[in-house]
Amino acid sequence: MGSELSGKKVLVIGGSRYLGEAIARRAADAGAAVVVAARDAERASAVASELPRGSAIRLDLTDEADIAAAAAELGTVDHIVITASAHHNAPVSELDYPSMVGAFDAKVFGPLLVAKHFAPLLPPTGSIVLFSGIAAWKPSPPYTIMGVSNGAVEFLAAHLAVELAPVRVNAISPGIVDSGTWDALGADTKQGLLEGAAAANLVGRAGTADDIAEAALWLLTAGFVSGETIHVEGGARHA
Ligand SMILES: NC(=O)c1ccc[n+]([C@@H]2O[C@H](COP(=O)([O-])OP(=O)(O)OC[C@H]3O[C@@H](n4cnc5c(N)ncnc54)[C@H](OP(=O)(O)O)[C@@H]3O)[C@@H](O)[C@H]2O)c1
Repeated sequence: MGSELSGKKVLVIGGSRYLGEAIARRAADAGAAVVVAARDAERASAVASELPRGSAIRLDLTDEADIAAAAAELGTVDHIVITASAHHNAPVSELDYPSMVGAFDAKVFGPLLVAKHFAPLLPPTGSIVLFSGIAAWKPSPPYTIMGVSNGAVEFLAAHLAVELAPVRVNAISPGIVDSGTWDALGADTKQGLLEGAAAANLVGRAGTADDIAEAALWLLTAGFVSGETIHVEGGARHA
């Protein structure tokens, strides 16, 4: 247990699973009162119930009324982390417009609406952490929408950092991480993905949820860092 976030309230949108859950647990370990937000309120409550000073709130990032209601209910927040995504991985010839919009809603427009409704609640020392990803930097079909929406997140962090200053806004760009999200692929396919990722970066392994949670904790407390994207990817862009 640390105390870096003692007395702080940290909202983790996407905190009910995978990287967001790891960040919620790490922030709680650092002394924060963590609010776990997701569409599945039951799952969010289950995670929150395991955290000291944890609480949960139902929130759909694609619904502005939900975001406004959450801001009104919470009243104050010190830091916000947004991990949610809605990837649409398809070749350009098979793109589906509503799914394309959904990908940008989760990664770009939802976080913009969070900024709209929550920025007035954040103290000058507050911060927002967004999530991009290595796909932005390694064009590779059928990941065009994932790559472009992740890339947009990195510009979003810089633009919001300027508009919301002195509130800090940053992004984390993970490489391939064994966060739990890949379990749906099945054991063999997942193993192949992780081995491929290990071979395609400089450190020779896939990322862990702890790698990302540590970076998130650092960004929440790094008071002289704003408008940046931190690449936690084992050097994959350079491999
Ligand atoms: N894992 C990796 O290898 C990797 C690699 C590169 C980048 N990234 C990026 O890192 C971030 C985290 O990835 P992840 O794999 O941990 O999780 P994820 O599948 O992107 O996010 C899952 C979490 O987001 C919530 N969520 C999804 N849609 C939401 C919405 N519309 N409103 C509110 N909450 C929503 C989910 O809960 P509900 O379903 O209940 O809403 C769940 O808590 C993502 O942005 C991803 O693109 C991950």
